[in-house]
Amino acid sequence: MAEADISKVQELARKSHSRNDPTGWFEELYSNAQGDESVIPWANLTVNHNLASWIKNNNLQGKGKSALVVGCGLGDDAEALSELGFDVTGFDISPSAIAWCQKRFPDSQVNYVVDDLLHPNVIGDRKHDFILESYTLQALPANVRPRGIESISKLLAPQGRLLIICRGRDPEQPVLDVPFPLPKEELSYFQQLGLEEVQFEDYLDQSKPIRRFRIEYTVQ
Ligand SMILES: C[S@@+](CC[C@H](N)C(=O)[O-])C[C@H]1O[C@@H](n2cnc3c(N)ncnc32)[C@H](O)[C@@H]1O
Repeated sequence: MAEADISKVQELARKSHSRNDPTGWFEELYSNAQGDESVIPWANLTVNHNLASWIKNNNLQGKGKSALVVGCGLGDDAEALSELGFDVTGFDISPSAIAWCQKRFPDSQVNYVVDDLLHPNVIGDRKHDFILESYTLQALPANVRPRGIESISKLLAPQGRLLIICRGRDPEQPVLDVPFPLPKEELSYFQQLGLEEVQFEDYLDQSKPIRRFRIEYTVQ
């Protein structure tokens, strides 16, 4: 697979942010890609290994439960949760990404929908037993991330599990471009909103020297 040109993607994001549009660049990127996943930096066409290992370590089971995948991209993580038996909704702000999921997985059990985490519409009607948020908060500028955290918190059912996978950083470390690594202090907003932290992992991701946080929250 060809490497996506990250500097072009960052420029697209910067232009969108300078128009005061925190999310417009996602649809631009997916629609311009015209089905070529090599230009989408996060598209691996397989389940995120940080999710797969967490599923294994935690013996995650989905029968009789619902799951929500935030910013589901090309759908591989949503499909992996569906295979575990979850009734999965995967949503993304980009209509082209959702159409791409539907094309890739025509027989899928996953309900793929277009919605905006920052202004939820259809996804706001239901709470879920499991929520996966991987790499979406870190793709949003800092001024809108609290709103994203608030939306996610409202969608978790009592005793539900929320899994966040993101790049991590110390608070004093500067951030320039997407993806924006998140400091633990920022994520603690979930706890201020009433969620409890169950596990917090801070590790270097496999071959790439990328610092990741992988955090599980629950709510009473
Ligand atoms: C960095 S990508 C990660 C995709 C996928 N979660 C993964 O791990 O490969 C962020 C995704 O979130 C979507 N997204 C960004 N802002 C969003 C929002 N406000 N509501 C819903 N989806 C959003 C983007 O279109 C994109 O597919």
